[in-house]
Formats: sequence, C-alpha cells, structure tokens
Amino acid sequence: MTQTFVTPTGDALAVTWPDGTTAEYPSIWLRDNCPSGFHADTRERVADLLALPDTPRIRAAGLNAGAVHIDWADKGQHSRFPLDWLKHHSPGRIAPDAAALPPQIWRGDLGARGIPRAAHSTVQGSDTALADWLTQTVRYGISIIGGLPDSRDAGMDAARRVGFLRETNFGIEFEVISKPDPNNLAYTALALPLHTDLANQELPPGFQFLHCIANAARGGGSIFADGFAIARDLREDHPEAFTLLAKTPVPFWFHDDDTDLRVHRSVITLDSHGAVQEIKWNAHLAGVFDMPADRMPAYYRAYRAFMAKTRDPAYQIRLKLNAGEMVVFDNRRVLHGRDAFDPATGFRHLRGCYVDRGEVQSRLRVLRRGADGLGAKGAHVPPF
Ligand code: OGA
Ligand code: ZN
Repeated sequence: MTQTFVTPTGDALAVTWPDGTTAEYPSIWLRDNCPSGFHADTRERVADLLALPDTPRIRAAGLNAGAVHIDWADKGQHSRFPLDWLKHHSPGRIAPDAAALPPQIWRGDLGARGIPRAAHSTVQGSDTALADWLTQTVRYGISIIGGLPDSRDAGMDAARRVGFLRETNFGIEFEVISKPDPNNLAYTALALPLHTDLANQELPPGFQFLHCIANAARGGGSIFADGFAIARDLREDHPEAFTLLAKTPVPFWFHDDDTDLRVHRSVITLDSHGAVQEIKWNAHLAGVFDMPADRMPAYYRAYRAFMAKTRDPAYQIRLKLNAGEMVVFDNRRVLHGRDAFDPATGFRHLRGCYVDRGEVQSRLRVLRRGADGLGAKGAHVPPF
C-alpha cells in the first residue's frame, strides 16, 4: 500500500496512511480544530465550541494536494487539514515536544567532572550552543557555565537570555553573602544542608542560577544531589515511605517582618503517570507537621528515610565554585547545599536568580523549531 486514503464514518474520519495504519479523527475534534476557527494572526482559537452540533456530520471527504478536504452537513461548512498536521496530531499520540527531555538520573559517582559544562562566551554567542547547553541542563538538572566576565551582572544577563527572571520575596536577584541581621540562613556563614529553595512558595522557583563572584573564604564548598535519584531509590527500598512522601501534604513556612508565605504540599510530586515530577525538600522551612497524631510516626519514618539519603555521600557531588563560574540547576529536582565558611578568611559572594521551568522549556522549543521536520510553524500551531 503506498497511498493515503480517507473514509468518512459519519461521526469520524478514518485516515489510512501509506504504511497501512489507520487513525480515527472524531468529527467534533475536527471541527474544534478547523483552521477557520483560529485567528489568523494570533493563532488562538476564536470559534465557539458550543455553537457546533454535538456530533457534526461529514457530508463528503477527499484528498487533494497533501490535504484532507471535508464538506460538513451543517451550514455548508468546509474544512481543510494538511496531512502532515493530521499525522502529527493522531489521537492518542502525544505530540513530540523538544522540551520533554527524559531526565538523566545521576548519583555521587558522576563526580564534579561529570556535571555538564559550557563556556559563557559560547553560550552567549550562539543559539545552537544555547540550545545544546539547555538540553544538557534539563537532562541532568544541573550544569556549570565557566568563564563569566568579572561583572556583577554577567550571570543574571546570561539567565535573562534564557527567560524572564522570577521575582520572589528575596528580590529579582539576590546576594548570597554573610550579612548582619539575616532573614535567611543562606545569608549567614553557616553550613546549609541539602535543600531546594522556597519550598514554602505556591510555586517554588524552577531553575536557579548561582553566579560565583568571590569564594575566597575557607570553607564554602558546594554540595549537590539529584532528588530524582533519591526518590527513585526510596521507591525501591522503602515503597511505603515513598508513597507517604508523595501523598501527605506537610506545611512549609517562611516569615519575616514583611512576609508570611506558607503552603501545604507533599515532598514528592508525581505526574499523571506516577513518575516523579518535582521534589520540594527544605528541612529549615518545614513547618510544624499537623497530620493526625496516629499518622505521625510513620510519616516521620518516611521523612527521615529521605533525609538519611540526602546525607549519604553516594548521592552527593561536592565542589568549590570558582569566581567566574555559575551553577545552574533545576530547583524542583536537584538539592543544593554548602559547607560553613569563615568570613574572617576571605570574601564569599554568590549572586542568584531564578528562571521558571516553563521559561526554560519555551526557550528550548523556540530554539529547536524546525528540527522536527515540520518547519518552524507546523508542529506548534493549528493547521493554517
Ligand atoms: C541559597 C543557597 C548556597 C551557597 O542561597 O539558597 O543555598 O553556596 N546558597 O551559598
Ligand atoms: Zn538554597
């Protein structure tokens, strides 16, 4: 069989492809996605779904010049769908997404040298390099950019090339330095155990950019661990603990003079297929657990099992950031921490900001447009 053919079945259109497979397109879906129902400039849907009959009837359908033409029984309507577009949107098939990159799970044996690296000048100078670096960063959940110019803004400017910066109660950009009257443990010289930032926020920030401007104090080394690896192993070793951490909302709370930000949420977030989607882990922002007393012992066992894994060197990568390096990591996946440092022995200054996951994904999709063989527009818009 080498030809495509179409068969109206009353309330659907069957398209049989040259490879012999058939896809069925319900008539209501076809009308809902008819190109005439979309604004020509904005490509947003303007047609009213409720103005359609429950089950639009196909009067006739045929193929012409790589497109399916449909005459509808109601109101003399006509639709034209490019075959490529129909194939791309076969019902039951999730359209490919350049930003849906399977995570590359890692543990301590990846080592600091295994963290993907890119040069600032390369990433800034080429869209291809930007896309390749973002791909690695999304896959591993972490990367390091080296060779930043000696400028306070270099890291934040690089982050802006990816997407809008996410403002929080700590500002658009935040200075991680030991300072008097801190409102956050990060602004002390204390050690920070592995954590994800701002677990107390309605939506904790996605990617964190930490530009090392100075790291001359004794101590102050960085620690990273892949929360997806910890969650995966917990699921294997202690499935009941994994389930409790995925199903039990617990309070996270930050408050200072101006702010009172709190949520109830689970430490592990699953997607609709049951895969681990996000980790929120921050023992210093955990509120007072408020589940019924008879559920507390089991929850504490689960919580401590996760915590014990965060302390296990088998999951940890340790490194000391150099001035001019910037670590970028998925704050809803990768846990970060630092060793205590002694401010009397030298200056330590990291400058940070966040770019949410959606922004990173958007930049990747735009940079990869055309790479799916459907052209710059084909895969991403209704069938114009
Ligand atoms: C932070 C943080 C790490 C560091 O600012 O949230 O964790 O190395 N800082 O100071
Ligand atoms: Zn932090």
